[in-house]
Amino acid sequence: MNIIESLRWRYATKKFDSTKNLPQEKIDVLVEAFNLTATSYGLQPLKLVIIKDKKIQKELTQHSWNQQQVADASHVLVFCIENVIGQEYINNYFDTVKTIRNTPDKVLNPFKEQLVKSFADKPQEEILNWATKQAYLAMGNLLTVCALEQIDACPMEGFIPEKYDEILNLADLKLSSVLVLPVGYRAEDDMFSEFKKVRRSINDTVINI
Ligand SMILES: Cc1cc2nc3c(=O)[nH]c(=O)nc-3n(C[C@H](O)[C@H](O)[C@H](O)COP(=O)(O)O)c2cc1C
Repeated sequence: MNIIESLRWRYATKKFDSTKNLPQEKIDVLVEAFNLTATSYGLQPLKLVIIKDKKIQKELTQHSWNQQQVADASHVLVFCIENVIGQEYINNYFDTVKTIRNTPDKVLNPFKEQLVKSFADKPQEEILNWATKQAYLAMGNLLTVCALEQIDACPMEGFIPEKYDEILNLADLKLSSVLVLPVGYRAEDDMFSEFKKVRRSINDTVINI
């Protein structure tokens, strides 16, 4: 399949085959792709929680508008944002840059100080919105990787984040859930896999200047 064929093959899977599990190698690819996602300033204000415990998946389904994808998927990926992006977090990022690239403090410090100040001046809500945008980027990236790897997936906003946070004890980790991505294999009788794609025409969505 070429990339466009793969993207056409992908669809928001409504029914997973609950008897089939993704091999660990496929999960490893998703994990690497998640971590390689581009993020604003490179700060990666995200964590990915990977669930393969069917009891927890069943419990989470009740807080996902009863969408059975959460119960039946091989794994459920929960995209979380860091609740605290302050001086310590930003300093840690620059320490990592220094370790990996051996960049001198003289070069890093002006940018670091500017970033620390800019985040300190922002209201918390704005920082959380910014972090949430990075989570959407990561999920978009994983959707494409899923298509290329022939992994079925259903991007989901339809869940109650507060309940997920509670069940997964995310507050203890200073995290908040923002998106959910059940992954696995489509059920043979998922009628949505046969549906034609509904998209606006390219003439309507692209402007050439
Ligand atoms: C951010 C986002 C949230 C979504 N939330 C849900 C959801 O909660 N449940 C669901 O069944 N589909 C959900 N979808 C799937 C969309 O409805 C679907 O991607 C869209 O209709 C296009 O269809 P396709 O992905 O099959 O091509 C979501 C998609 C996105 C991108």
